[in-house]
Amino acid sequence: MFLNMRKQYVLIGLSAGMLSLALFACHAGRNNPGRIYAPDMYYSRAYNSYSVNLVYADSMSSRLPVPGTVPRGHTVNAHELLPFNLPQSDSAYAVSGQVKNPLPVITQATLEEGQRLFNIYCAICHGEQLDGQGPLYKSGKFPVQPANFHLPQYLNMPEGTMFYSVTYGKNLMGSYASQLSERQRWEVIAYIKSVQAKDLAKGTDSTAVAKK
Ligand code: HEC
Repeated sequence: MFLNMRKQYVLIGLSAGMLSLALFACHAGRNNPGRIYAPDMYYSRAYNSYSVNLVYADSMSSRLPVPGTVPRGHTVNAHELLPFNLPQSDSAYAVSGQVKNPLPVITQATLEEGQRLFNIYCAICHGEQLDGQGPLYKSGKFPVQPANFHLPQYLNMPEGTMFYSVTYGKNLMGSYASQLSERQRWEVIAYIKSVQAKDLAKGTDSTAVAKK
């Protein structure tokens, strides 16, 4: 009995000691944030994007690009020597036929690349023959007829209009701006136009045939 009591006191004493140690540890931890191994990563020397910046009169750290500069990966419209950036509000400009394919030269390799991309991204709806009979449409799971590029309305469609529709989407067709770079979109359009050029060379008869 006596021994048991002593054991109990020892136990109580030990746990009280551990508790105070634990509490002390927590307390100490709260005051001491520890070591920072890479202070440059915690406290940026550069201005943060949205931080106030006293260097500029408008106090904005995020700056707009210098007018006339072309971001990397964007094409320059060779015909106008302007950065090629077709905003959504510029649909009239695209449709007017002023927007031309800015690729400086269209070689066989350009067209082959355009065809490769077309078969990956577009043929599921538009068909590898560009006749709007892609497997998705033929399966009956896609509710509207994708454009048949052999029809006169598409044979005569300005390439700027095509670029615009591929960039922003058209009705049930989504935008391809995130899948294809500007260059790739123009390569695909160059390919479509090259196939259409063969139709046009054959004359109106073939378009009448393709129509039905
Ligand atoms: C999911 C099916 C689908 C895919 C994939 C698709 N399209 Fe279309 N596309 C359509 C449909 C449907 C239309 C008809 C839109 C309308 O006029 O209502 C269309 C229309 C078009 C037009 C005519 C646009 C206009 O202004 O009338 C072009 C050009 C075109 N597509 C190009 C492409 C290209 C290039 C690709 C691949 C990068 C592509 N499409 C992928 C369904 C698709």
